[in-house]
Amino acid sequence: MTQATHTAEILIIGGGIVGLAIALELRSRGAAVTVLTRDRNQAATRAAAGMLAPHAERIEASPLLELGQKSLSLYPDWIRTIENLSQRSTGYWPCGIVAPHYQRPTESSTSANATSSANGSSAAEWLDASALHQCQSGLGTDVVGGWWYPDDGQVDNRALFDALWIAAEKAGVTLQEGITVTALHQAQGCIREVWTEVQSDSKTRQTKTWMADHYILATGAWSPELLPIPIRPVKGQMLSVRQPEPPGDTLPLRRVLFGDDIYIVPRRDGRILIGATVESAGFTPGTTPTGLHQLLANALRLYPALKDYPVEEHWWGFRPTTPDHNPILGTSHCDNLTLATGHHRNGILLAPVTALLIADWVWNRASSDLLSVFSWSRFQTSSVSLQRPSANSALSIMPTLYSSTPATPSVEPSNTQSPALSSTQAATEAIAKPLIIAGRSFQSRLMTGTGKYRSFEQMQQSVAASGCDIVTVAVRRVQTKAPGHEGLAEALDWSKVWMLPNTAGCKTAEEAIRVARLGREMAKLLGQEDNNFVKLEVIPDATHLLPDPIGTLEAAEQLVKEGFAVLPYINADPLLAKRLEEAGCATVMPLGSPIGSGQGIRNAANIEIIIENSQIPVVVDAGIGTPSEAAQAMEMGADALLINTAIAKAQDPACMALAMKLAAEAGRMAHFAGRIPVKTKASASSPLTGTITG
Ligand code: GLY
Repeated sequence: MTQATHTAEILIIGGGIVGLAIALELRSRGAAVTVLTRDRNQAATRAAAGMLAPHAERIEASPLLELGQKSLSLYPDWIRTIENLSQRSTGYWPCGIVAPHYQRPTESSTSANATSSANGSSAAEWLDASALHQCQSGLGTDVVGGWWYPDDGQVDNRALFDALWIAAEKAGVTLQEGITVTALHQAQGCIREVWTEVQSDSKTRQTKTWMADHYILATGAWSPELLPIPIRPVKGQMLSVRQPEPPGDTLPLRRVLFGDDIYIVPRRDGRILIGATVESAGFTPGTTPTGLHQLLANALRLYPALKDYPVEEHWWGFRPTTPDHNPILGTSHCDNLTLATGHHRNGILLAPVTALLIADWVWNRASSDLLSVFSWSRFQTSSVSLQRPSANSALSIMPTLYSSTPATPSVEPSNTQSPALSSTQAATEAIAKPLIIAGRSFQSRLMTGTGKYRSFEQMQQSVAASGCDIVTVAVRRVQTKAPGHEGLAEALDWSKVWMLPNTAGCKTAEEAIRVARLGREMAKLLGQEDNNFVKLEVIPDATHLLPDPIGTLEAAEQLVKEGFAVLPYINADPLLAKRLEEAGCATVMPLGSPIGSGQGIRNAANIEIIIENSQIPVVVDAGIGTPSEAAQAMEMGADALLINTAIAKAQDPACMALAMKLAAEAGRMAHFAGRIPVKTKASASSPLTGTITG
């Protein structure tokens, strides 16, 4: 691996239509621009159908419709510039779009001024069956009429993509293909550099660092790999057929048809594109029989003549989709990072307006109302403060009972000793000594998680009841908004608890490294600027969820080099624990038994060896099912515990959280107090001396 640093004035990450359009616009204003792209063929730009359809897409009257209409109006000039620079045709064709219907809409919605059904197009016109069939012959017999959107059109997105690439190059944009950006490195609210990898041959990967005055993220569906923003891939499958050579000049199908769950886009060269499925399938590659069948069935109903056209190609792509289906444009949490991503179904349409608005912002610092509506900040929900459990919880009386019992020591995490313990050296040490991890001190020795709860409220109550200072969060699940994880990161007040991002769901060292970097960004985004902690989990085995020792060590070594405080989750292997300590890990986290199993401490002897040999904190993680097992681990001398399932899945999670907190503290006190030796014979509690005999 070799290291090198490159510099640029403006660095655009992502070479799809959005990244390239911004690059060209900024270059035309005099900026020195570099674009980094991994693989152009993967871009949603190539997979699209190229419809310019703000009206046919039925975008409701909204800023998105305004954005789409503005972009549509920019298209002719934009295309002219690109075609002039590149000397390539883009297949731009303001051909109008027909939206056939199988049921006649209400009379009022088809009247001349019915702009709501006409989807914001003042020129839209309702055509009844005969007018529509005249406009386009060969439509399905059950088509009863349709909307004609004369303002909409199409462009050959692949031709445009190629032309735009050439135009950008000719304009002086530096285009770097085959470069994978692996991380954005951020500090004090600024991107300092981006890390990249280049595959130089089948075995070697070169790492390079890029620095720029300003960075623009335009990485579409892959954006969450670099920044914790709410974008997910929405897969679309497509296919193409070819129209037969017409006897005359006119192709049989000459209108774009936009039906329900189907569109059919004829190109001037006889190609017909048929799309597209809308699937939440993650990044699953490939077309499927179900997907293609659905497309063909819908297409044949709409335009039966297709049935004998030869199939040419089928493909798929990933739309970058936000929760509200609107793009994320403009400012980010870093002063020198601008976002231009999440264009969902409308990337081709929105490219010119995105380029204009982003260039105005980056180059001229000129914002606009239209830009600010699409700010990423709309997804930032207000944090909920950690609160004590509600009054109706079984728990509500317990702290009171507990603290009002005079003989019982206070276990509030505090340096103030209760009178009962003030003279007890062991207890003083046990309670007062903070847990130090990577130079940061924590009062509580119980860490908890956020997963598996029945509700956010239960999670919030349990975290509060546990008294924990550290809460672990699965970066991937938060990123992908896995069920139960939507809004999770925002559900806790991170000014009060320390986030421990974890790499759950990563099967390889490589994945875990990537997710760890993302976790660091997530913590920063949520206000923990100096948080470099990561709970490292490399778990290839989905059945037993046992960690991969080799992958864990590899990832730990790399992450330590990158400045992370690494808390690796491991099997209770004393030799591995030592190797991880030598590699510079901040703790080791041996499992008591498999994650979520509640089997307790199954490997006490090995954990004892780890504790005995370790110079770094030992956190027993996984398997603890009951407070007695939590206490057992602490009695053995563990420095801390991480407990999630046993709390989250308890009948009363908050009550169990408090029980675990008390157990952790009791166990720690017992460890310092020193237990009695185990004897084989009884030893009477009352002394025998002085007893009356005879
Ligand atoms: N623009 C159409 C689609 O995403 O399927």
